[in-house]
Amino acid sequence: MADMLVKLYTLPELAPLRTQLAVEGIGMRRAVPQKHLVLGAWVRGHFAEGWAAGVKAALNQQLVSCWLAVLHTPLDHEAAHAYDLPAEQLLGFAWYDVASKGMFGPIGVHPAYRGRGIGTALLIATVHAMADVGYQYAIIGWAGAPSWYATAVGAQLIPDSEPGGFRGPLRGDL
Ligand SMILES: CC(C)(COP(=O)(O)OP(=O)(O)OC[C@H]1O[C@@H](n2cnc3c(N)ncnc32)[C@H](O)[C@@H]1OP(=O)(O)O)[C@@H](O)C(=O)NCCC(=O)NCCS
Repeated sequence: MADMLVKLYTLPELAPLRTQLAVEGIGMRRAVPQKHLVLGAWVRGHFAEGWAAGVKAALNQQLVSCWLAVLHTPLDHEAAHAYDLPAEQLLGFAWYDVASKGMFGPIGVHPAYRGRGIGTALLIATVHAMADVGYQYAIIGWAGAPSWYATAVGAQLIPDSEPGGFRGPLRGDL
């Protein structure tokens, strides 16, 4: 799995996808640091331990580099106070600047919610966030879905980038 390059100055607009998903009660927003436990458990449960290890790094960035897709659900009782808000159901996550500066990924959408445009919207939202903090290009590290990235954001394979900067496992059993 090679790395891919994304031009952040020619990105598709997020607004049409965001509007389309909002009709289904699905939104996208930046994560907040205090939710690292639930997000870590969710990523570990639905994806991989190695991906879950990135949660703290993404949530501890000075500007959190993790974006979430969430399903808004109505409150099942009368709000007792201003902070008595309905829970949001996690549907997907993506982050950048974790494996290395300027690197996007991983990204994951709950299996039951795939194929509805959530992954594309989350990807576009996150790479727009990278552009907003000053990057001109994003690198998708070890791109597991190259044709999907190419379609969604025009990502191009980087020649001779396999395995790129990735290194083998680190053993600590001595
Ligand atoms: C890749 C992923 C994030 C896409 O999320 P999603 O919400 O289903 O994405 P969208 O609905 O925007 O796009 C769905 C389209 O992408 C295609 N697609 C999904 N995974 C793909 C892959 N690995 N390679 C190529 N195309 C893929 C689907 O077939 C679908 O095509 P269609 O619209 O022609 O039917 C999701 O499949 C996922 O979480 N996969 C497991 C984790 C992963 O592989 N992450 C990417 C590598 S880091």
